[in-house]
Amino acid sequence: MALTQSGSGRDGWSSRTAFILAAIGSAVGLGNLVRFPAEAGANGGGAFVLFYILCIVLIGLPVLLSETLIGRHGQAAAPESFRKVAEQSGKSTAWEHVASLGVFSAFLVLSFYCVLGGWVLYYIGIFAADLVSTGLTGPAFQGVPFAEVEALFPAMIANGPVTVALNMAFLIITLAFVARGVSGGIEKVAVYLMPTFFVLLIAITIYGFFGGAVAETFAYLFTFEPEKLTGEVMLAAVGQAFFSLSLGVAGMVTYGAYVGRNVNLAGTSAIIAGADTAVALIAGLCIFPIVFAAGLEPNGGLGLMFQTLPHAFQEIPFGSLIGLAFFIMVAFAALTSSVALMEVPSAWVIDRFKLHRPLAVGIVTAGAAVLGTLSALSTGMLSDFHPLGFLPLFEEMGVLDTLDTFTSKITMPIGALLTSIFVGWVANKRLVDSENGLSGGLHVFWRFLVCWLCPLALTAILIVGIFPGVLGGE
Ligand code: PFF
Repeated sequence: MALTQSGSGRDGWSSRTAFILAAIGSAVGLGNLVRFPAEAGANGGGAFVLFYILCIVLIGLPVLLSETLIGRHGQAAAPESFRKVAEQSGKSTAWEHVASLGVFSAFLVLSFYCVLGGWVLYYIGIFAADLVSTGLTGPAFQGVPFAEVEALFPAMIANGPVTVALNMAFLIITLAFVARGVSGGIEKVAVYLMPTFFVLLIAITIYGFFGGAVAETFAYLFTFEPEKLTGEVMLAAVGQAFFSLSLGVAGMVTYGAYVGRNVNLAGTSAIIAGADTAVALIAGLCIFPIVFAAGLEPNGGLGLMFQTLPHAFQEIPFGSLIGLAFFIMVAFAALTSSVALMEVPSAWVIDRFKLHRPLAVGIVTAGAAVLGTLSALSTGMLSDFHPLGFLPLFEEMGVLDTLDTFTSKITMPIGALLTSIFVGWVANKRLVDSENGLSGGLHVFWRFLVCWLCPLALTAILIVGIFPGVLGGE
């Protein structure tokens, strides 16, 4: 259905459950499965995990509710929703640019997120081929030395034609759903893929619990050692909480705009944040038992998923099958997130230029393909191209890392900071209160968090993110 105008007759979620699944689909993604375990590994395990949970509850959840309520009130693409709330509050419509920045960030994240999604597709192909030759019960890559399995990853990311083609494939799959509209495509992908995702995640976790190093995993993830809670660790936790909940890119404003008036936003936001956090924790409980049981060290970064895990799958019965199921699960999570990322700029193009949805989505995809090609090549042919290398924050970074750092350290925290200031201080209180679904002590507490804690914490993230030296590191 073409969504050319906001207001009545607009496409939207067919039910509250559909919205919840789509929002969880947006939140649960590579951030939970790749970044969370890697960040926990790199930042002292339990100290990071506990502080992360605190950040989700005290900072993430209030901003998530703020974003969805602006969207639901505006019932339009994110900038238009901000404008409506500002106008009705008697404030400057320039506030719409907070969402314009979000739309821009979502576009940038989309462009590199699909590159990573493409890598996941490659591993699905590798494990599928291995399964055919190994059979259902065997460990993965039998008789292949570990060094060769490990070398697959650098060889793949250095191969320009392969990474560009994979990126295009992932973008086109994403486009195929977003072009069909909210109820016809975006919702469908979430309603089918998210339950399948949960089944796979639980099944692999249970498998890991039987043969894996469970005690070691619990000790690793949940032993709280206060001395490990440094400024850097706290910062990594807050940044991860925001990325994981898809905040600061107007994504939840966009999804909130398709929500009906009868939905209680506070309760729904709590379910979304709870599910996202549960998936991150279960992802840890899924990955580490297998890694530890294989006698491996959980290295940080992308190596955990693309090198350590494939090696671990070499050591376990059914490794080939579990490996394939694992990467299919990751692809599902990534797809429901890339769909959300593509919807943000697409909804804006539709509203702003009054274009039909398929054309608008095509334009966004073409733009993301161009930028994504630069990211895809930045791990190979273009590895010496450092677009913002003259700035200390981006020194030595290729296009992909530059975009990741620029969005997660600068534009996303700015977007979230301005959103909390807008909802806490600028928007009409009665308007906000009529949308948020809170009352009594919880309402007072939420106000306190949005007005004070979120802006202060986000300002701190921004300063330390941009000037790491403030914490005495680097
Ligand atoms: N939350 C997603 C993840 O954890 O992978 C990433 C993301 C999706 C960020 C959608 C922003 C967004 F709008």
